[in-house]
Amino acid sequence: MLLTGKRALITGGGRGIGQGIALSFAQQGCDVAVAARTESEVRAVADVVRDMGRRALALPCDIANPAAIQAMVRETIACFGVIDILINNAGYAQFRPFHELTAEEWQQTLDVNLTGPFHCIQAVLPGMMARRSGRIINISSVAGLKPLPHQSAYCASKHGLNGLTKVLAMELRPYGIGVHAICPGGVDTKLTREAMPERDKSDWMTPEDIAHACLYLATLSPRATTDELVIRRYDSTPIGG
Ligand SMILES: NC(=O)c1ccc[n+]([C@@H]2O[C@H](COP(=O)([O-])OP(=O)(O)OC[C@H]3O[C@@H](n4cnc5c(N)ncnc54)[C@H](OP(=O)(O)O)[C@@H]3O)[C@@H](O)[C@H]2O)c1
Repeated sequence: MLLTGKRALITGGGRGIGQGIALSFAQQGCDVAVAARTESEVRAVADVVRDMGRRALALPCDIANPAAIQAMVRETIACFGVIDILINNAGYAQFRPFHELTAEEWQQTLDVNLTGPFHCIQAVLPGMMARRSGRIINISSVAGLKPLPHQSAYCASKHGLNGLTKVLAMELRPYGIGVHAICPGGVDTKLTREAMPERDKSDWMTPEDIAHACLYLATLSPRATTDELVIRRYDSTPIGG
């Protein structure tokens, strides 16, 4: 097992990609704290993790609320002792033409996709810096690397997350903390079913495909790093292609 004895906090772990990461990490021996707003979903995922023989925490939390993030991190540390791996995965998407986008939708997208990770990272950093060890994986998107019409807020938030990732990869290297972004293309989840109901998703990636990429980053050799890992649908066009 690749993550025996490790302890991870996964935001947005109640379904979709976050659930896939939680179960894949647990399979590799990791204890997992699962956070999202829907209590029934985080409880269900935590139950499966426990059934796999790992410790699990179900943490109802709104990532758009900085005080709730502080409480989430405090509770995880109180239960697990430390957080070795933070996965910033909670995400919000509302796709529409820019001229129809409301200020509230813009703000919610930035709050969940960019400011949420800011607060989560700041909350876990004191422990990681003291131990001079840790790994932070931000679930970004190909929308963080290229323009996509009708996705202005989402693209802006994910471009910001990629920028934050690369600066922190440099700033936190002296503390032994690795910071990475995964930029997935289309994955069949509730988010894409709701934001793009018209698209056929029969050949889209699954949460398990992204969990596999996440496991790769979480277990990288200390001599190597990957800043942005792009994982796209097999028949899609390469970024920049
Ligand atoms: N699906 C794709 O094609 C795709 C592609 C690239 C990147 N991504 C990224 O992957 C991540 C996961 O998305 P997904 O596709 O797996 O979507 P999903 O199935 O809808 O899952 C999103 C998760 O985030 C949680 N979440 C949303 N808003 C939250 C908030 N304010 N506070 C706490 N948790 C919140 C949701 O739980 P609650 O609603 O219960 O809070 C849920 O657990 C997102 O960052 C997304 O941008 C997805």
